[in-house]
Amino acid sequence: MAIDLSTRYLGLDLRCPVVASAGPLQQSVDGITALADGGVGAVVMYSLFEEEVRRESARLQNLGDLHADSYAEALSYFPDLPSVEEGVTKHYLNLIERGAAAVDVPIIGSINGATRGGWVDTARRMQDAGAAAIELNIYMVPGDMSVSGPEIDDRHLEIALSVKESVSVPVAVKLSPYFSSVGHVAAALDRAGVDGLVLFNRFLQPDIDIERVTVVPGVTLSHPDDARLPRTWIATLRGRLRASLAATSGVETPDDVIKYVLAGADVVMTTSSLVRHGAGHAQVLIDGLAEWLERKSLTLDKARGMLAVPTGVHADEYERAGYVAALERAKQVYGR
Ligand SMILES: Cc1cc2nc3c(=O)[nH]c(=O)nc-3n(C[C@H](O)[C@H](O)[C@H](O)COP(=O)(O)O)c2cc1C
Repeated sequence: MAIDLSTRYLGLDLRCPVVASAGPLQQSVDGITALADGGVGAVVMYSLFEEEVRRESARLQNLGDLHADSYAEALSYFPDLPSVEEGVTKHYLNLIERGAAAVDVPIIGSINGATRGGWVDTARRMQDAGAAAIELNIYMVPGDMSVSGPEIDDRHLEIALSVKESVSVPVAVKLSPYFSSVGHVAAALDRAGVDGLVLFNRFLQPDIDIERVTVVPGVTLSHPDDARLPRTWIATLRGRLRASLAATSGVETPDDVIKYVLAGADVVMTTSSLVRHGAGHAQVLIDGLAEWLERKSLTLDKARGMLAVPTGVHADEYERAGYVAALERAKQVYGR
């Protein structure tokens, strides 16, 4: 009997819980089609960045000012205008439109920023282009030491609310794990009506090349150990929020998908494994999950959250008890 992997995420019906997270394979319609053919339940687009949107608006504004100062007969001398219209945003929206027409799984538009402002209107343009939902990646490095933790929390809430207000499709927020209280921020976003949380953003942490004595920036592909932090938080938040929970980081094999499901993820996202092995690797992940469910005589719904922190207990005391026990065990193992 075929295992039913159908999944609800952000109120959308997906054929399975494995989702292609924002990444480089989505940069063409062929890439999007390959991901859908690979079996994923949805495709999250790569991000359109606040900086790109702002730069484009500024250029359009400059051209508009130029127009305003010119005589009517001179208006035809603005060869730049069409090329601005062909900018990054237009290309992105066009890709969503063509991608959504080419595949039968939801396409989720991704906007990425750190401040409030008009740039968030781009979310509505993504919706108009055919995005079934919006993923808002709030990537903020609070390097300004005068800004307090609660101010950072509030800024997240304000940005999320302004995106929510500008669209009617569901909105997921992709968060960093670096809050003094992840649960508090998650609950505030949930109360504000955010439809899903994507845990977690990976922070760009540059390396240092000691021979060249330079900083080496760059996004690296993940390792299964990177799943431990988001998995812990998903297990903690499961059953305590109305919003969907998406896991992102460290999926390489079906085992990693299964662990996230057991922790309580509604969907499990992957970028690194698809970059490493190709879009077809999604089917390996999906088949592995189905095979495991069958072997364990479990349905997906039954397995989901089976190993989450029980809702009746104090999550902080529970986590601390686990921590103390783990350290006690580690002392036995490593102290001999
Ligand atoms: C090459 C590359 C490009 C990425 N681009 C984006 C992006 O545009 N927007 C975004 O929100 N995340 C982006 N990510 C992060 C992924 O969506 C994902 O959250 C992260 O890589 C952790 O998942 P993984 O372990 O499956 O790779 C990118 C990751 C990689 C490796």
